[in-house]
Amino acid sequence: MTPILHSPAWKHAERHAHGLRDQHLRDLFKHDQTRFQRLTVHWNDWLLDLSKQRITAETLPILAGLWETADVPGWIARMRAGEPINHTEGRAVLHVALRHVGGPLMVAGHDVMPDVRAVLDKMRGFCDAIHSGKWRGATGEPITDIVNIGIGGSDLGPRMATQALAAHRVPHLRVHYVANLDGADLATTLANLAPRTTLFIIASKTFTTQETMQNACSARAWLTAALGEGAVSRHFVAVSTALDRVAAFGIDPDNAFAFWDWVGGRFSLWSAIGLPLALAIGFAGFESLLAGARAMDEHYFTAPPLENLPALLALVELWNADFLGLQTRAVLPYSQSLGLLPRYLQQLEMESLGKQIDREGKLVGCPTLPILWGEPGTNGQHAFYQLLHQGGRALSCEFIACREADFPLAGHHEKLLANCFAQSAALMKGKTEAEAFAELSAAVPPAPTSAGTVAPDPSFLAPYKIFPGNQPSTTLLLPRLDPYTLGALIAMYEHKVFTLGVLWHLDAFDQWGVEYGKQIANSLLPMIEGTTPVTNVDGSTAGLIVACGSGK
Ligand code: F6P
Repeated sequence: MTPILHSPAWKHAERHAHGLRDQHLRDLFKHDQTRFQRLTVHWNDWLLDLSKQRITAETLPILAGLWETADVPGWIARMRAGEPINHTEGRAVLHVALRHVGGPLMVAGHDVMPDVRAVLDKMRGFCDAIHSGKWRGATGEPITDIVNIGIGGSDLGPRMATQALAAHRVPHLRVHYVANLDGADLATTLANLAPRTTLFIIASKTFTTQETMQNACSARAWLTAALGEGAVSRHFVAVSTALDRVAAFGIDPDNAFAFWDWVGGRFSLWSAIGLPLALAIGFAGFESLLAGARAMDEHYFTAPPLENLPALLALVELWNADFLGLQTRAVLPYSQSLGLLPRYLQQLEMESLGKQIDREGKLVGCPTLPILWGEPGTNGQHAFYQLLHQGGRALSCEFIACREADFPLAGHHEKLLANCFAQSAALMKGKTEAEAFAELSAAVPPAPTSAGTVAPDPSFLAPYKIFPGNQPSTTLLLPRLDPYTLGALIAMYEHKVFTLGVLWHLDAFDQWGVEYGKQIANSLLPMIEGTTPVTNVDGSTAGLIVACGSGK
């Protein structure tokens, strides 16, 4: 069982949670006029408002006891020393090296920094060649379209960041992302592209992933059908840790960008996996992203837990999951550009922390990460917010907003912010039946309609207008969305994940849970292709295979 579960700090938090159980957030605000000031943390020009969480000023110091008990600082030191803290795979976890400047960082006695710098230089050269038009396709034309083929960590980071930084894109180059095994993804992307001016990046840490290999083969067939085999070297580059497999696929080793097994897939945006992003925003923009992440690393490594953004987010998540019993968290960016952030965080957080076995091979003994989902506001307001307000389920929400708009159209941003702040206020305070009744009674009755109906009696309608409230939320207010800020934002979530992994005593860097389905899919494929009989499968699966016209 996770060691902190037996600790005095955990017992203290349990007693504290018990005392808070019956307190409504609106009362906590009423009784403490300084609540916002006391529960808000600043970092540079960022503001993290935790005052709408179901905590008091005593809660965070109590939770910080867990940070000490679990020895988070010791684990940070082990990570930075390149120890194999991904213990089930025997690997170091050193994505921070990818944005590090300065002295050596060692993994197994080897300084990784020269390798990191060499790949960054190669990426810079490639970006320059594409942007300047020096790199030509097989027919001598410059490249106008980049298609990144990858999935999971080899897709979500650069895809999310490319959308997030739409306002910072270089002109005259379009960057597309294809991930899904469903041929619709590749086919609809290629439908509008010309082979002569398209360049593919095949991004895969292992270079074995079924989806990516299938899409890469189909893309290659599309290209060579138009331009011949000789065109591959001008239209395909690869990003991988498995350079031998890249060569076996037929990609020129000069066109391969390496990364290393100490970079986890979902932490790899900062490596050459970020190449499509660097092409989309320019290499200077990519360097600015790295600089933002580096600033957040420095903050995480040095700030005390009560002033440390990733630490606070982790402690509040643990509080909600283990002491308040919340089972889901909605990530709600009030930024269209951050629309893919929830999807990105689903992999980063759920693939890292969606586990129940601890580092000793025993049950963790408490709930781990709540289910994470979300959509950008205000769209979500017209879809699922009804349930957040009146569905009777307790959950936490994470609102993210920017002070400045990245696309400043007159009249938009103020309304966007008003909606964001209104939602967290409504979720927090709710509305009582008496308030609903008073509001309805005070309202000017509408004129009778042609059908002769009149406004319903307030006492009839009031129950439908009750909002229980007391739904906790965090609001993160960013200055603006630029590469530097986005880099810091992503690094903040990475360190939050690291912290929770330590607190729950989990290996946050493996992903054994994704293996079983792949294994079964491999065994079913020949049955669906009709090359082996349908045997050794359950009745439902056999029935489905036969219903597709396959198998016997
Ligand atoms: O979904 C499992 C996973 O291994 C992820 O962790 C990873 O990001 C993704 O598949 C893609 O893997 P690769 O980069 O090796 O193709």
